[in-house]
Amino acid sequence: MLPPIRYIAECQAWLLGNENFSYAFGLDPAGVHLKHLYWGSPIDVADVVALASDPRDWWSNAADTIDMRQPAAQWRGFESAPRAFTEEIVAQGGFRFDEPSLAMTDSDGTPGLLLTYSGHEILDDSGETRLTVTLRDTRAGIRVELHYAVHQRSAALARWMSLHNEGERPAHVDRAASAAWALPSYRDFSVRNFYGHVQGEFQLEDNPVVHGTRSIGSRTGTSGHRGTPWTAVHEMAGEDHGEVWSIALAHTGSWRIATQLSDEHGLHIVPGVADEEMRCRLDPGDTLETPRSLGVYSERGFAHLSQLWHQHVTGVIASERRRPLPVMYNSWFALKFDVDHDSLLEQARLAAEFGAEVFVIDDGWFQGRDNDHGGLGNWIPDERAFPEGMAALRRDLGELDMELGLWVEPEMCTPESEVFRNHPEWVHGTEGRFWQTHRHQHILDLGQEAVQAWVIDKVSHVIDDSGCTYIVWDMNRPVPLGQTVPGSSTRQSHAEGLMAVLRALNKRYPHVTWQSCSGGGGRSDLGIMSSMSLTWISDNTDAHDRASMISSASHVLPVGSLVHWVTDPAAKSPNSDLLQQTQALSTRFHTAMNGVLGVSADLRLWSPDELQEAAELVRQYKGIRHLIADGLLYRLPVSRDALACAYVAEDASAAAVIIVARPARFGEASVRVRLRGLDPDALYSVTEQGTRSGRILMQHGLILDGTRNSSWIITLTAQH
Ligand code: DGJ
Repeated sequence: MLPPIRYIAECQAWLLGNENFSYAFGLDPAGVHLKHLYWGSPIDVADVVALASDPRDWWSNAADTIDMRQPAAQWRGFESAPRAFTEEIVAQGGFRFDEPSLAMTDSDGTPGLLLTYSGHEILDDSGETRLTVTLRDTRAGIRVELHYAVHQRSAALARWMSLHNEGERPAHVDRAASAAWALPSYRDFSVRNFYGHVQGEFQLEDNPVVHGTRSIGSRTGTSGHRGTPWTAVHEMAGEDHGEVWSIALAHTGSWRIATQLSDEHGLHIVPGVADEEMRCRLDPGDTLETPRSLGVYSERGFAHLSQLWHQHVTGVIASERRRPLPVMYNSWFALKFDVDHDSLLEQARLAAEFGAEVFVIDDGWFQGRDNDHGGLGNWIPDERAFPEGMAALRRDLGELDMELGLWVEPEMCTPESEVFRNHPEWVHGTEGRFWQTHRHQHILDLGQEAVQAWVIDKVSHVIDDSGCTYIVWDMNRPVPLGQTVPGSSTRQSHAEGLMAVLRALNKRYPHVTWQSCSGGGGRSDLGIMSSMSLTWISDNTDAHDRASMISSASHVLPVGSLVHWVTDPAAKSPNSDLLQQTQALSTRFHTAMNGVLGVSADLRLWSPDELQEAAELVRQYKGIRHLIADGLLYRLPVSRDALACAYVAEDASAAAVIIVARPARFGEASVRVRLRGLDPDALYSVTEQGTRSGRILMQHGLILDGTRNSSWIITLTAQH
């Protein structure tokens, strides 16, 4: 195996990558500036040497370097110099007019940086090879380090940046994005990303890339409901064809991803923390480091791209926190805030009948939490509801073979809580200015170390006292603007503080499974997943809406990290405020099986037949959940508007297919679905369909009776 990062001395260039991709950049002939050379399918050293020695000076646009006798010379002198899509870092200064990845101002008000190369270092560190390239602006006294990392188990290239003030006077950071990613030039690129809102997260859209800059992002202090920080640029790609270049930011706070198409159809993408969160003064000796941005390239369309992202999340980001997928019950839509030992146990006994393994008590279990006006910050079981404490309920659940899970919202406090009365200075905002409650709660400023310590202590106490092994970590309001008092913290330091807290808790409780949640899917991102391996993508549990969100989210998030619930319509269960859910029970289960299967419904209202049907569905899920967690995902072509996912074992010896289709229209009698990822020459036993070759299953497909059903689970096993 070739080294993942190589320095090629003969052309002063670096070649990074593995069997999935190559990425190359080098120094200009003067050994001063960094030129971007290549990002795409694997190439070798000879290719890099050829690219680096291209005699045409595409890189520089400066008027002095242009031969004015050439016809295009006149206008080129007015273009950005150098052009952003030919640079490794776009630092505002001089004749650069493109979207910068770094912008700084010297303390005397002089804007711009003039960076020159000053060295590099390659290091190996636990499965990851890292390259650091150092640049300096001597006038401002700023050292910039560009970091690159290639991991053995991943097709993602990580890129981030750090700034160091080595000078004697302060400097100001106006923008510090994680990287500038240059793409090949092409005039007909499309860009795919998410948009959405609370209850409507993870909607996908594709648009042509047009000239100019387009940005997406969040300013809520979380990655937000509009979608996770991810984007993909493609050349008319489909699920199984076409080139795709995809960028994500592994960060769980406010963010921005800008895509700029400039002259010569040159494209570059700048992902980073939202500018207003990074703007700061960098004093002598200070350092600022950005979160990692990640780039994944696929030459075989979106299915392969998604698989590469999943591999990075499960193999690198969340590798230490992976567990078998549990079957879960959650009390929220059954009992809301009205939880107590006996009513929970009543639900638990029924949930045990269909094989639930983790019983999560959602909101409402702690002192003062009769509704959403109080209680946050107390984190002690309400003794009226749990007279023998939480451990007693855990013991009773143990007898039913279930583990205990608890909902917490530790970043919050309500105005009457002891923590707020004792420490009003711990919450974001200042009295009279941004010091407002939102859903009747303040948000604690995790940028403060004392607050971090308090939260770690409270959550530790919850886990120690109850013996729970599953935590749902909710976050039900945006972070307001930073404090206006000295020592104030911003949304960014809140996000960093949160990650510090979670790292400490992960370390202290390695056996606990952590699930993120934020008013639905406000925190489903690659940043939080390094500490919480599971995520809740929306409070919308309507089977068809959810199916569409699963299809979108699975472009980057592994399906095995998504938690779903089977819920009831409000007409059936008065505590459920969900109006839709008119689908059959089996369809609701089939949808929720595309991830961690949960149920949140008042089971006292389920008939014995429904409980029995649920038990059968859970039994089926337990037979395929290893494929959902570890198989390769293919979103299948299907004849009706549907979510159709195949989870195929890596050696193609087995697969599970889940199809959730919209109801038939115009008397459609069948649903046809074509499989992907099978061995064409193998014979597969297919549930209720007999034996078929992989080739027939992929090219001709399966025909399902669509008059009676609108959802199916099909398992395939290769015969030997
Ligand atoms: C918002 C979450 O998204 C819901 O699922 C539920 O946990 C409530 N919070 C509880 O307050």
